[in-house]
Order: sequence, then structure tokens, then C-alpha cells
Amino acid sequence: GPETLAATGKVLLAKPRGYCAGVDRAVIAVEKALETYGPPVYVRKEIVHNRHVVTTLAARGAVFVEDTEQVPEGATVVFSAHGVSPAVHAEAAQRELKTIDATCPLVTKVHQEAKRFAREDYDILLIGHEGHEEVEGTSGEAPQHIQVVDGPESVAAVEVRDPEKVIWLSQTTLSVDETMQTVAALRERFPALADPPSDDICYATQNRQVAVKAMAPQCDLVIVVGSTNSSNSVRLVEVALQAGAKDSHLVDHAGEIDEAWLAGVGTVGVTSGASVPEILVGEVLHWLAERGFGEVEEITTANEKLTFSLPRELKRDMRPDA
Ligand code: F3S
Repeated sequence: GPETLAATGKVLLAKPRGYCAGVDRAVIAVEKALETYGPPVYVRKEIVHNRHVVTTLAARGAVFVEDTEQVPEGATVVFSAHGVSPAVHAEAAQRELKTIDATCPLVTKVHQEAKRFAREDYDILLIGHEGHEEVEGTSGEAPQHIQVVDGPESVAAVEVRDPEKVIWLSQTTLSVDETMQTVAALRERFPALADPPSDDICYATQNRQVAVKAMAPQCDLVIVVGSTNSSNSVRLVEVALQAGAKDSHLVDHAGEIDEAWLAGVGTVGVTSGASVPEILVGEVLHWLAERGFGEVEEITTANEKLTFSLPRELKRDMRPDA
């Protein structure tokens, strides 16, 4: 038990951490949809990649489905923050579903770029994780023009029609450093490779990585709160280790922390992925405080102010006082 551990140590808490503007908007969209239309409100895929969020919304009447086919005709469905391909919109229209699109505007931006460069007949190399929902949605904008490049090791297999007309885009939640390695490897094969007009890795992903990098060198252990299917959370563990943390683990909640990780540890870093509610971080801090790690210092590398307005189709239907 906690009383057997004599350790007294310190906690560094990364800021920014946790909810980004896109996740905040998507979660509120489901809550407002439940209030406005009443349950059940269907949600295609996990609204955001966090188990706690999904369970909480399910308890309030959200029904999570894998595909629009599972949504009864005429019902309301929310599309998740990760975005969907045009084929999914078409299926929903065909089944006469009422759709609320909670795709993060920064994901939509990548979709727009994909459409534009496909129109201009580029071969688009989309750096991202094969099978991730966001990558599937973006690829669906122009399947003939887009191929997924899943890290530097997949560069050798890339084939293009015209090496003079190639551009890269990326998933929004990658490691900045690893993406640059992939771009460098691609450019070695295709020297004319064009860069996207602006960064695709979103501000929230970048800011959380910068914050974890700043504290990692001082940490014996970095605990990242986040779910295993959350890309940006998994990246934070990698970034922490690369930046000099002696050890780092991803946990969904405080209950997943192993006391053995604290052996010989003086300083613990704590951060959380963009889909993680602050309550889960609070529980981790409480768990640590009970074990002698009660002193908490916040390490701030940026102050985030961005917010996104709710999906238009939802705002139209919301009660004026809602
Ligand atoms: Fe959007 Fe980035 Fe969050 S793409 S959903 S702001 S992690």
C-alpha cells in the first residue's frame, strides 16, 4: 500500500495538456444534440479517442456505432472529430439520416488540401497511420490520388506516376520529429516533393509535444494520461522518452498506474492527450500525492485560447436558451 513507500518526490505538470479545441467542440456537440433532440443520438465511431468520454456520453443516451448502416433510417447521427470520407456522407444521405458533423475544422482543412491537390492531379503522399480513422477519412476524398505513408520505413514502397508532381500531407496528430524524418526520406526519393501550404500537424498536437519535451529531461518517469487508440497520446510517450525521460507510460486512468514504476523515482512528469478530460489528470495527481508526490509545479510552454464554434446544423436546431 501507499504507506509502505517512503518516497517524497515532486511532480511536473505539463501545460498545455488535455482537451484541444476540436475535442471540446465534439464532446459538447454530442451533449447539445442529446439535449436538443433527446436520446438516442447515434455517434459514428468514438466521438474522440477516450474511453471515459465515450462511457460518460453512452450513459446519457449516446449510442456508439461502427457504421452508418447500424443507425435506424431517419435517426440523428454525429460524425466524430476525426472526420469521415465523402462516401460516408453519401451513405448517410441515402439512409435519410440527420447528420451533425463534429469533424475538427483542422481535419477539414487537410481534406480541403487533399481535394485541391487531387484536382491539380498531384500524387498525394499522406503521412499517417494506416487504418486510423482520420487517415481513412482524408484518403476517401481522393482515393485515386492518395497513398498512405506510415513512417520512414514505408517510404521505399511508394510508387508515383510522375516524380515531378508529388506533394505530402499528414495526419494532424503525428510526432513532429518523426514526420520530418519521413519527409526527408521521401524527398531523397523524390527531390521535387512539394510541401503543403501550411502545417497539417495541428497546434494542439505540437503544443503538447513541446510541453512534454520541456519537462522530460528532468523526469525519472513521465505518466501520459490517454487511451491506447489515441494517436496524439501515444506520441507523447515516445516524445517524452526521446527527450530524455528515463521511463514513460500511457495510462487511461490512475487505476492503471503500477506502483513499481515509482521505485527510485524523484520527479514524475504528468501530461495528457488532446482527448483527455482534466478530471482524469486530477485523479492521477491525487494518486501521486498519496504516495509522497504532493508538490506540483506546472511547466507552461504555451497558453491556448483557440475555440471552435459548434457545428452549424446543430446550432440551427438548438433552443435559443440552450
Ligand atoms: Fe483537432 Fe488537433 Fe484536436 S486536429 S481534434 S485540434 S488534436
